[in-house]
Amino acid sequence: MKIRCGLIGFGTVGSGVYTLLQKHRTDIYKKTGVDIELVTICDVRDIKDKVNVPVTGSWQDVVNDASIDVVIELIGGIEPAKTIILSALNAGKSVVTANKKLLAESGNDIFTASQKAKGALAFEAAIGGGIPCVAALRNGLVGNAIQSVVGILNGTTNYILTRMAEDGMSFDEALKLAQAKGYAEADPTFDIEGFDAAHKIALLSMLAYNVRVSMQNIYIEGITKITSLDIKYAHEMGYTIKLLGVSRMVDDKLDIRLQPVMIPFTHPLASVRNEFNAVMYNGDMTGAVTLYGKGAGSLPTASAVVSDVVSIAQKQNGIKDSVYIANDAQYLSSDDRMLRYYVRLHTEDRAGILSKISGVFASYNISIASVIQKEVNAPYVPLVITTHAAREAAMHKAKQDIEQFNFVNGQVMVIPIEDFNSTGE
Ligand code: NDP
Ligand code: HSE
Repeated sequence: MKIRCGLIGFGTVGSGVYTLLQKHRTDIYKKTGVDIELVTICDVRDIKDKVNVPVTGSWQDVVNDASIDVVIELIGGIEPAKTIILSALNAGKSVVTANKKLLAESGNDIFTASQKAKGALAFEAAIGGGIPCVAALRNGLVGNAIQSVVGILNGTTNYILTRMAEDGMSFDEALKLAQAKGYAEADPTFDIEGFDAAHKIALLSMLAYNVRVSMQNIYIEGITKITSLDIKYAHEMGYTIKLLGVSRMVDDKLDIRLQPVMIPFTHPLASVRNEFNAVMYNGDMTGAVTLYGKGAGSLPTASAVVSDVVSIAQKQNGIKDSVYIANDAQYLSSDDRMLRYYVRLHTEDRAGILSKISGVFASYNISIASVIQKEVNAPYVPLVITTHAAREAAMHKAKQDIEQFNFVNGQVMVIPIEDFNSTGE
């Protein structure tokens, strides 16, 4: 079925929604049964040369268009965003928004209106950018009583802290870079003083504990007072400094705060770097569940907006969310699978052995990255070799050949090395 959308705000996130739909509209339809049509795009700027969709400068054109099912509000701020959302809900439309400031500071009227409205209100994009942390809470973890929510909830500040810690950058340099990458809010004070992340921990707490949370009751402290020296001293003690939203129920009382916190290097959130965000829910049934991903930026946030549109359309139109299978998978062959390897063997310690072993690798076009031989007083010494990316089939053959040498004792241990970087690639 077709769902007709009006998009208001063609900035960082709005343009991401447009790009995403240009690329994936057909696939989304095949996977979900929902065909998302952008009927009109509204922005105060002149954008007609950037899109192949009718444009307007007046949001009323979108809200008053009877043919539009879903209004996507992506202008940010309180007004006119609030009026737009309320008008759209009153007009029987559904609303998708990324506007955490509005929902956290002034959401009561909107939540009340959405309860009475025919349409739905969805705001996955308001928290954690591309991370489906609202869906996880409302669907995946619905069988739990949530006991705590802890998160790195602002991409800009996490990016700044990472650059300061890893590159010795100044706060100002790192902020400029974060702005250039489109992570920061229009007014970056909201990021660096912690208000943006505080909005998000407030919204997550409302969803987690089903209580109304007012911003005045949240202790908020940003990162502007953190210096490189604090980061260095923290590192020396085995800690890293992160801007954390922390919210937990203590004897039915909400402990909620947003502040820079020192966490040990071993904590799962300590490895969350750059613009990445992570949310840790503690459910009474599941224990800790951590979600990690890009918490800001054009396309990650657009992904959350589009998922909201799809789920609204599916629910309202009773579309069965069945599994879409296009065809049989084609599999990568062992000859095409390229991996780095750790190879460990035990060998006699005498002249010419290393060259025979390296000769086997060379014959299969496997390039050696490092070699370590331990000096031990035993008939066989351990030899550890790592390789550059090599074909899996070639490595299997090399292993078999090396095991045939009479100077090699026992089997050769081969373990792939997956050099996942912090982006998960
Ligand atoms: P941008 O400032 O990049 O985009 C907003 C766009 O809306 C601008 O082009 C702006 O024009 C336009 N606009 C402002 N007022 C109106 C109006 N009355 N009518 C029509 N157009 C208007 O913001 P973002 O895309 O970054 O953010 C949008 C929302 O998404 C915000 O609520 C933000 O908090 C949220 N968000 C942003 C993320 C990000 O990574 N950037 C991530 C998650 C959420 P002009 O600039 O000329 O005012
Ligand atoms: N400015 C926000 C951030 C955008 O840096 O995380 C995502 O809400």
